[in-house]
Amino acid sequence: MPDVALVQGASRGLGLAFVRRLILQSASSRVIATCRDPNSALVLRELAELHSERVTLLRLDVTDIASLQAVAATVSALGSPIDLIINCAGVLHSPEGLRPEKRLQDVSVDSLEEYFRINTIGPLMVIKHLVPLMTKRRRAIIANLSARVGSIGDNRLGGWYGYRASKSAQNMITKTLSIELKRTHPEMICVGLHPGTVATELSAPFSSRVDPAKLFSPEEAATKLLAVIEKLKPEETGKVFAHDGTEVPW
Ligand SMILES: NC(=O)c1ccc[n+]([C@@H]2O[C@H](COP(=O)([O-])OP(=O)(O)OC[C@H]3O[C@@H](n4cnc5c(N)ncnc54)[C@H](OP(=O)(O)O)[C@@H]3O)[C@@H](O)[C@H]2O)c1
Repeated sequence: MPDVALVQGASRGLGLAFVRRLILQSASSRVIATCRDPNSALVLRELAELHSERVTLLRLDVTDIASLQAVAATVSALGSPIDLIINCAGVLHSPEGLRPEKRLQDVSVDSLEEYFRINTIGPLMVIKHLVPLMTKRRRAIIANLSARVGSIGDNRLGGWYGYRASKSAQNMITKTLSIELKRTHPEMICVGLHPGTVATELSAPFSSRVDPAKLFSPEEAATKLLAVIEKLKPEETGKVFAHDGTEVPW
């Protein structure tokens, strides 16, 4: 278990479940939980207050560089290097009207930009600002929440241009990071993670056709992914793994 884990996108869904699991799985580890509006993240706030000696709650919007700089300054002042970063924030649809495209004619510049801003550029900016605060001489992990639909080799259905492409591009970023960071952080492992289909707000409009046995709760998915993280080997850096530990093809 990491001494210090930072979970980004922790207000709800998988991010919130990761924070819960990390608190439960080790009595000593410290969790830095970030979300874009701590005031409205009531469950997370309650959790942070209940475990105030171990959980630090900070505001971070992946599209707001000033918030990333502020988080970096606060984490630096805490004085303990980060062992694990879980980049969770992601978008598939939004109350503002973002919808995964069924066909080419649904594609728009605005929706493509929104997918890339949050799913691709966001996690990269998080790493850019926080990597200087990560452990250098011990095992350290960067885990970016990817998705199987970002696999080019596995794309059999088409559609969802923006979401798919934003996750494929995120996978490329994970691979590129793994190469560069190996030089400065020899024990660093960077991976993408596919959680399966998880019952969260993100999947809700699309999960009715999913076999209930294959629809995980956020807690189940977070538990499985933490087990995958725990078993990662240095030579597996740069790859994408599913919840059951199998590698997801590019
Ligand atoms: N659920 C699935 O079946 C599934 C499958 C494959 C991959 N994934 C991936 O897993 C990750 C987590 O998904 P989820 O199902 O937990 O989704 P979710 O329940 O919809 O949660 C999305 C999270 O992203 C945060 N977020 C959105 N925009 C943000 C921004 N600009 N800055 C910071 N945080 C932002 C949200 O914060 P607010 O509360 O502030 O909106 C929320 O915490 C995503 O990357 C998703 O693509 C999920």
